[in-house]
Amino acid sequence: MYTASQLLDKINSHISDIRFTRTPAGLYDPIKYVLSMGGKRIRPVLMLMAYNLYKEDVSSIYDPATAIEVYHNYTLLHDDLMDRADMRRGKTTVHKVWNDNTAILSGDAMLVLAYQYMAASSSEHLKEVMDLFSLTALEICEGQQMDMNFESREDVKEEEYLEMIRLKTAVLLAASLKIGAILGGASPEDAENLYDFGMQIGVAFQLQDDLLDVYGDPAVFGKNIGGDILCNKKTYMLIKALERADRDQLEGLNHWLSATSFCPEEKISAVTELYTQIGIKAVCENKMREYYTRAMTSLGAVSVIEDKKSELKKLMKHLMYREM
Ligand code: IPE
Ligand code: IPE
Ligand code: MG
Ligand code: MG
Ligand code: MG
Repeated sequence: MYTASQLLDKINSHISDIRFTRTPAGLYDPIKYVLSMGGKRIRPVLMLMAYNLYKEDVSSIYDPATAIEVYHNYTLLHDDLMDRADMRRGKTTVHKVWNDNTAILSGDAMLVLAYQYMAASSSEHLKEVMDLFSLTALEICEGQQMDMNFESREDVKEEEYLEMIRLKTAVLLAASLKIGAILGGASPEDAENLYDFGMQIGVAFQLQDDLLDVYGDPAVFGKNIGGDILCNKKTYMLIKALERADRDQLEGLNHWLSATSFCPEEKISAVTELYTQIGIKAVCENKMREYYTRAMTSLGAVSVIEDKKSELKKLMKHLMYREM
């Protein structure tokens, strides 16, 4: 069995060996750019780890593992355009280095490339893998649309937010694990429990992402801080802050939510100050812990010896305290 960091090295070196030989450069350069700027590679690592619970020859699933990372990077190109984000992984985003049309088209090409890589999965499990991948990709679009719809709504409920992040983020972590399990020959029960495990981890992962968008260090997080506040994203923190605010705090939050012309830095610091007064960081961290506990239960139900699960548990802890 390999450690998470060994698997990370393997997939990183595999991805950096990809040579894009097709033209025009204007289409492929942004793809090379985004794939070369790092990232945690969590999804392919999860896929390899799930596979490795059952089989040793992890190199035989490098194609689907690459597919999931290329797919994820495609969502980032389009997401940064939709969120008007200027920085990703410490570098200028594709739509800023090039332009909006490039981010759209290079993103489209990456989606196709991801399908090509995924289609190279072993023929024995191909249909099941492609069906899950397609359903997941559709769910992510649904989640992203909900995320945008929520920007202009004031009455988003906690349950709606949790469903939105399940779709836009958690299903991809879940599918990464399940595809690894399917390809490794896991039982349907194990594959489903690993899917559930990924789902809980994924919800906690997005809660942490939202938290870091407010309280993170941009030099470590690699993204500009306060982007969600500027877009009026209905994050768990905002929903809970609106619920818990006293009269003055509520007035403050509503003022910034409806403001149409403002200095971005001023809005970010005022809303952050309100979050801090209300104590929203701890509320969010409690929710994350709830999902980590549920994740442990799902992992517990996977029928491989406990020893084999230790790397997944370690990775989970690491993700819980991540700063990037
Ligand atoms: C960013 O994903 C998008 C979210 C779902 C929060 P990651 O935090 O995994 O980004 P990279 O790939 O490590 O840059
Ligand atoms: C990520 O949501 C969801 C997808 C990319 C599908 P965010 O918009 O919070 O991700 P970041 O913070 O830009 O990475
Ligand atoms: Mg974004
Ligand atoms: Mg987004
Ligand atoms: Mg975010």
